[in-house]
Formats: sequence, C-alpha cells, structure tokens
Amino acid sequence: LDLPPFENEPFVNFNDPAAAQSMREGLDTVAGLLGKEYDLIIGGRRVAASEKIISVNPARTGQVVGIHQRATEEHAEQAMQAAQAAFQTWSRLPMEDRVKVLIRTAQLVRARKFEFCAWLTYEVGKNWAEADADVGETIDFLEFYAREALKLDQSTTPIQYPGERNRLRYMPLGVGAVIPPWNFPLAIMAGMTVAAIVCGNTVVLKPSADAPTIAARFVAVLEEAGLPDGVVNLLQGEGPEVGRALVDHPQTRFISFTGSKAVGLEIHERAAKTQPGQKFIKRTILELGGKDSIIVEADCDLDAAVDGVIASAFGFNGQKCSACSRVIVNQAIYDTFTDKLRDKVSALKTGDPVENVYTGPVSSQRAFDRVMSYLALGKTEGKLLLGGNAIPTKENGYYIEPTIFTDVAPTARIAQEEIFGPVLAVIKSHDFDDALSIANNTEYGLTGALYSNSAAKLDRALVEFHVGNLYFNRKCTGAMVGAHPFGGFNMSGTDSKAGGADYLLLFTQAKSIAEKV
Ligand code: SER
Repeated sequence: LDLPPFENEPFVNFNDPAAAQSMREGLDTVAGLLGKEYDLIIGGRRVAASEKIISVNPARTGQVVGIHQRATEEHAEQAMQAAQAAFQTWSRLPMEDRVKVLIRTAQLVRARKFEFCAWLTYEVGKNWAEADADVGETIDFLEFYAREALKLDQSTTPIQYPGERNRLRYMPLGVGAVIPPWNFPLAIMAGMTVAAIVCGNTVVLKPSADAPTIAARFVAVLEEAGLPDGVVNLLQGEGPEVGRALVDHPQTRFISFTGSKAVGLEIHERAAKTQPGQKFIKRTILELGGKDSIIVEADCDLDAAVDGVIASAFGFNGQKCSACSRVIVNQAIYDTFTDKLRDKVSALKTGDPVENVYTGPVSSQRAFDRVMSYLALGKTEGKLLLGGNAIPTKENGYYIEPTIFTDVAPTARIAQEEIFGPVLAVIKSHDFDDALSIANNTEYGLTGALYSNSAAKLDRALVEFHVGNLYFNRKCTGAMVGAHPFGGFNMSGTDSKAGGADYLLLFTQAKSIAEKV
C-alpha cells in the first residue's frame, strides 16, 4: 500500500461563492434528512430499543435532528459479545487491510464534506468554518492514523542480538469502549474509534447523547467503506446506564474517553476495580477538561493578542476543552487590552449557525443551565464587562451572549472551574512571574498561550507553563493533526496525544519475539 505523505486537509474558504453554494446545498440536502430514526448496530444487526433519545437542533429546539434507540445494559452485553467475536478475525488481518478501510472512509467523508458540515450545524450548532474544521480533522485522523499504523507495523527492536532474529510486534488489546464527547462529535468520535480499530481492536462506540446522529452517519460510512460487522458496534445511550455497563464489563480491555473531569475520574476508578472473571488490567485513555489561560504581556502585538483571545474564547462559544476561559493581562496594558477586547467582542454576531454567524447557541438545555449559573456567579465574583444574559428567540434556541468578566481573582470559581461556554475571565498580573504562577494555579493543564515578543519569556514558558499544548503568539484552540499532538497534563487527562505519532501505541501491547538462528 503506497500512500502519499500525509497533508492536513485544507480549510474551505467560504468567501468563495462556489464553496458557500456547496455549503448551502449541503444544508438543504441534510434538511431533508432531519428527523429520521436510527437503530443500534450490534454485530451488524439493526436493533431497536423501547426507549428513544431525541436529538434536537440547539438553535431551533422544536426541530428534531434524529431519533435514536436508547440502549440498555442488555444491549451493552450483546455488543460486547459481538465485538469479542469480531476480534477473532479483525485482529488477525494484515495491517494493510485495516488501513484500507480508513483510507476509503476518508475518501467518502471528503466527498460528502458539506453534508457532514451540515449535520454538525444542525445537531450541535457549529457555524460553517467550525463545522469544516471538525470534518477536516476527521479526514486528517483517518489519513494520519492509516499512515502511522503502517509505520507501527514495520517496528523492530533497537538491537539485533547476536545469533538471534529479534522482532517487535504491536498487538491489539481486545475490545474497547469508546466514549467520545458532543463538542467535536465527528472528529474526536471518529479519531478515537479508528485509532482503536486500525490497530486490530474491536469496539463498542457510545457517542454522546447530545450528538448521536453524527455518529450514526459516520458508522454508516465505515460500513460503506467495507468495515466488517462487529468491529464497531454502535450503542446510543446515557452514561449512567450503558456507559457504566461498558466500563465495568469484565471483558472491556480498554476505555477511551473524552469528556468531563468528573466522568473521566469515575471511569478511571471503576476501571481500576477488577471484576469477577477479568483477566487483565484495564487501560484508560482519558482526555478531560481544561481551564486554559492566555498570558498577554506588555511587549506583544496587542491587536493580535485580542484577536487570538477572542477566537480561543468565543469560537464555537467556548465549547472546547482547549478554549481560553481566562486571560492573564499585564497591568501596564490591562485597560487598553480590555477596551479593545470589549469593542471587538461586542461586534460579534450571535444567531442561527445555518446563516453562518460567529456564535450560535450552546449545545443543550443542560449546557444552557450550567453556563447561566456561571453567569450569575460571575456577577458576584468579577466585574461584568460585556454580555451576561441569555438571548431569547422565538425558536427557543439556547443562546447566551458572549460574556466577559474583568478584575477576576485568580482563585475565583469562574477562574478555576471549567464552564464550557462563552464566558471569559480577565485577570490582572503584576509581572511575568505572577502571570506564570496564575496560569499554573488550576488543577488542569491542557492548553495555554503566551503573547510576547520576548524570546526569554517564550523560553521560560516552554519550561514553566505546565500544559500539554502550548502556543506562542497564536490562539490556543484548533490543534492540527500531526503538527500539534493534542492532550493535557494534570486533571486534563492522561496526556494521550491525539493526532500524534505515539497515539496508536495506547491501543496496543508490544510483543517481543526472539528466534534462535
Ligand atoms: N483539538 C481541539 C482544539 O485544539 C480541542 O478538542 O481546539
């Protein structure tokens, strides 16, 4: 299998009228597909359940995007057995055969890029560019892991011992539970799934109940690309029922989870408990929350810093684990910075993402309630500079104004807890030492950025700014597959670097073979 070198999928330029037209056509096509019912997929079988999950458009909460079966513990058991059965053959296929499925899937997703973008717009409220970035990252994960898998297959030992032939094979682990989030419901869901299966594992995929339709559409493409039955079993459902059943199952060899700290830690704990009949130590691969800081020093390009903070804090409404939710600004430029920030953020448009406005709704009633409670808290902890309210619409969308609080204490709850919404805390620093210590004072360590023209400060940050993804003079969101392997320190997870060269190793175990010659 001779693949050209990996290149990131280019972003669509929606200023090009032809591209904008393609997106509108995608939106029209998908509008005609909204409201359909989807089955669970267990060993290739379509399975219905008595309870349903109704996915609605967060911008128009009366519009049903998809109806899904709410899986039970019994479905989890059936899916585990189907995955076990499929593992016997899938794990033994030559790597190239598995890689081919990823490459074909990438081709199909690329060919249907605007339809997938449209699903992201309707189901989670992404504007066109955010949707395109999600689809592009999906294609990147498929193409990148395909190539990394081929490399892994060529692994060898560093040394050949005299008189022996020494080999090293990365063997699959077994059946995994893949539990992705709703905020990158295509890219992260697909990346976690295909990384696991390309190594020869089989999985039970339990997408977020807030984005089930996108996962169902993607699994259909995997099947179209030739994925054998039982390799990816699709269970829609809620964490407390089906998620827990999968995590606790004695045959679940690994759990790959992206989501909140609270759920991630619960998974870690449950996975550590050996179940009757369990023959291995479960592995957890966890990508959790963030409380990500951007440090703005007086010696930087201030306009670039304002733009970078806005993109990081309000892109997709701050609903990214990588989002900037605290900006730490040197006192010498604090007032100028906050003035510029207020002026630019107040000009941002909020509205229906179908119309490609900058910010749309937050993802769900649950998200809306959580963010609103933080707005109330912020009004007691900081000074409200901008926003602070819900935006009522006749379609009952979950809209909230982009909100900025200034003069926030570094230890305030809005400066410490992940809000996952369009809320930014501005914190004043006295000097660079102070800025670094504020940046490091949360329990998280996912992303961070520093705006400064001082090489000495960048050098210090490289060592002292304790995050998994550090950015200099650019935004702290939008990690590119291959270039910015993504994952964090501390409570942000196990630093499993998605889109990095070592990611696939997490889904394998190494077997060393020595043969006397
Ligand atoms: N990888 C995304 C980003 O960098 C977050 O999940 O923004």
